[in-house]
Amino acid sequence: MHIVTPAITSYMTELLPQRHPVLLRMEERARENGFPIIGPLVGTWLSQLARLTGARRIMELGSGFGYSALWFADVLGSDAEIICTDGDADNRRYAEDAFSEVGVRPRITFHTGDALRLFADTPGDFDLIFCDIDKHEYPDAYRAAFPRLRAGGVLVFDNALWSGRMLEGDESADTRGVEEVNRLAFGDAACHASHVPIRDGLLVCTARGE
Ligand SMILES: C[S@@+](CC[C@H](N)C(=O)[O-])C[C@H]1O[C@@H](n2cnc3c(N)ncnc32)[C@H](O)[C@@H]1O
Repeated sequence: MHIVTPAITSYMTELLPQRHPVLLRMEERARENGFPIIGPLVGTWLSQLARLTGARRIMELGSGFGYSALWFADVLGSDAEIICTDGDADNRRYAEDAFSEVGVRPRITFHTGDALRLFADTPGDFDLIFCDIDKHEYPDAYRAAFPRLRAGGVLVFDNALWSGRMLEGDESADTRGVEEVNRLAFGDAACHASHVPIRDGLLVCTARGE
């Protein structure tokens, strides 16, 4: 099930300005390998969100080979810090080369291992936390990440509408994880939750009362 009709997605994508050649190369790599990345529409929106919130410290759970982190790095100044996590060391190597090529390597740290464990081991709070790990882990990620937002901070989950699988009777652990994180966020009196229905949907969480 498409969240946005393909014709509208094409229309929106064609309006985007020219992207950095490294981003384009990564998009090609993702296409060739069937690797899921956020793509340019979500990337554009996330980088705008980082700017709007004045984010200085960003945590990414599930960085893949660095595509989504580059969208953050592109708009943040040299005083910003982005911490990437991924389970695959090959992804880290590829990402670090790409960060160097774009000239943003000094502001990005990339840790390899279990993202939630690495997050627990990283001290401090964050202006923006972006979660794109395996979907069955989303509820645990919500419980771990929401309390670690700085004042005015924002927690974002990718694939929060999950191609509508939850409406099609899919009982897989990943689909249940997406359903549960949506219920958790919208049912949490401390959380102001909303969906942004671009690509596969984003769940956006901020603390109420700020
Ligand atoms: C959807 S991809 C991330 C894509 C990336 N955010 C982007 O848009 O460029 C998910 C990545 O998270 C990693 N991953 C999934 N669950 C993880 C976990 N629990 N710990 C660490 N990495 C994980 C996978 O290896 C994969 O590289």
